[in-house]
Amino acid sequence: MRAARSAQSSYKEVTDLKIAVLVSGGGTNLQAIIDAIENKTITNTEICLVYSNNPNAYALERAKKAGIKSVCKSPKEFENREDFNKALLQILKDADPDLIVLAGCLVVIPDIVVKAFEGRIINIHPSLIPSFCGTGYYGLKVHEKALERGVRVSGATVHFVDEGTDTGPIILQKPVMIRQDDTPEVLQKRIMEQAEWKILPMAIDLIANNKVQIRGNKVFIEGYEEETVF
Ligand code: GRF
Repeated sequence: MRAARSAQSSYKEVTDLKIAVLVSGGGTNLQAIIDAIENKTITNTEICLVYSNNPNAYALERAKKAGIKSVCKSPKEFENREDFNKALLQILKDADPDLIVLAGCLVVIPDIVVKAFEGRIINIHPSLIPSFCGTGYYGLKVHEKALERGVRVSGATVHFVDEGTDTGPIILQKPVMIRQDDTPEVLQKRIMEQAEWKILPMAIDLIANNKVQIRGNKVFIEGYEEETVF
């Protein structure tokens, strides 16, 4: 699936996939995307917008340095959640992306956005879904829970976003081994380095190059082999 333009791609020249990247914090995943576009690990892709709900997100600085348009709107600026949700939808519609990438975005994406961009939103989650995911599993909490449970392997998952929390079709996963002396912070960093910063750019490149198809609740990738990711 080449996002919204799959029907045209057979007779039209492939143009760049426009992506909007939604962030809330440090933006290291955003940086991985920017770098991958720069060094051509991701092809046929341009970032049309970085959105943050948090005015203090360092991700906004990264966007500025890379010359990418950014918008910051916090739910706190609105009287109620519905008004914020409508504003977020309008921001995204104005940017008109082919794909929305949730890269450490702590805002719960409202159903009106999921519906408007059905099959065109992806998220990076720092565990091997369906472990350690769903409501309440974000940031360091994911890694705290994994260590608490004593699992030997964790990792990261890139998946399409549907109306549930971390329930959409899985695109890519990469495992990361757990060490006995790991702390949540150390594990978080290793999962970012070894998994997130690799599979998120890879998933975008696959989508940009028409290699990803959703069939039911599963994703099929043209030319996929274990070695694609490991
Ligand atoms: C990442 O661990 C991501 O998986 C999670 O939030 C973190 C964001 O980090 N959803 P960054 O802002 O990309 O540095």
